[in-house]
Amino acid sequence: MKILAIETSCDDTGISVIEEKNGKIALKSNIVSSQVLLHRKWGGVYPTLAKREHQKNLVPVLMKALKEADLLKKEKTKNFESKKLKKILEKEPVLLKKLEAFLKTHKKPDIDRLAVTQGPGLEPALWVGINFAKALSFFWKKPIIPVNHIEAHMLANWLPKKGKKIKFPAVCLVVSGGHTQLVLMKRFGKYKLIGETRDDAAGECFDKIARILGLEYPGGPAISREAEKAKEGDIRFPRPMISQKNYDFSFSGLKTAVLYQSQKEKKTKGYVRQASKEAQQAIIDVLVKKTINAARDFKAQSVLLGGGVASNKELRRQMADSLKKKIPSLPLYIPDPEYCTDNGAIVALSALLGKKKAISFKKLKADSNARLD
Ligand code: KG4
Ligand code: ZN
Repeated sequence: MKILAIETSCDDTGISVIEEKNGKIALKSNIVSSQVLLHRKWGGVYPTLAKREHQKNLVPVLMKALKEADLLKKEKTKNFESKKLKKILEKEPVLLKKLEAFLKTHKKPDIDRLAVTQGPGLEPALWVGINFAKALSFFWKKPIIPVNHIEAHMLANWLPKKGKKIKFPAVCLVVSGGHTQLVLMKRFGKYKLIGETRDDAAGECFDKIARILGLEYPGGPAISREAEKAKEGDIRFPRPMISQKNYDFSFSGLKTAVLYQSQKEKKTKGYVRQASKEAQQAIIDVLVKKTINAARDFKAQSVLLGGGVASNKELRRQMADSLKKKIPSLPLYIPDPEYCTDNGAIVALSALLGKKKAISFKKLKADSNARLD
């Protein structure tokens, strides 16, 4: 079974090919084209810009992904029929032009299924990937498996690596730019949301605090770099909801605390570094404490991390250290940093392991607020 997966939920255009043979999974390609430099000018992701960029990027990314998987073959298509294609891509004119040129000159690749991120995510961005998947599905006559973006971040932990046997139930912390959720995973396809942020997501908090401190987008990596250079200081920020007996989060108060405090200070290099370190620590303290509480209370057999914020070095280190101290026998799994942020491989893997069935392209719609359970 070969799956070609498409990811456009936010500002990364990702396409990947994964193959499963006799129970073994092989990653054939995983191409990501990031729009970070473009959105940096605006200090965050601009949905209509993201949509336009996905339209430009999808065909070049597809060609690279097919080439790397050794599936790109030139061949003139006989009796090319463009009427239906035009209808499917009527809202994506830039993409239509590029896709037509590609389909006219390339052979149908040897794949069995398509997969695409259905949501949650930015609605205009999601639709480009979905319409692209529909057009390919129609032209190549392959069914599509819709994938939930949160599930994809969780299942990134199953990406090919030798000897990985994750035991259930697992407690998963998904921390990204749009979401902060604690999920109890009983098995593939069986999830229970046990807690989530009541306002901003952790990644969003990193991004907003970075902007307050005059750092670039995306804020997470920028804050983490500044924090590494910080000297000892006496700035203190709150750890919202850390002592509450639930698994929910709140990060907007932390952002406001940084804003008020920083208005009283000169934004010297030293200040920005210290504030970055303390803000990062406040976020990490809450994430670690609530995750370990959930793991203990739900008698988890493993703890999983996923999402862009899970690529944060300090979060990875401190989560591992605290777990070792508090529940020494409990294994922790975190995807390699490149698979924490958005990419097609995690979508392909979810299509393979998740329990969603393939559907006809005619039934597929974006669901920007899709829920897991
Ligand atoms: O999962 P992701 O790529 O996209 C969404 O689904 O939102 O996550 C992007 C988020 C951004 O908010 C970004 O600032 C954050 O992940 N991020 C980080 C780091 N790298 C990315 N946050 C903290 N530390 C990092 N190293
Ligand atoms: Zn994501």
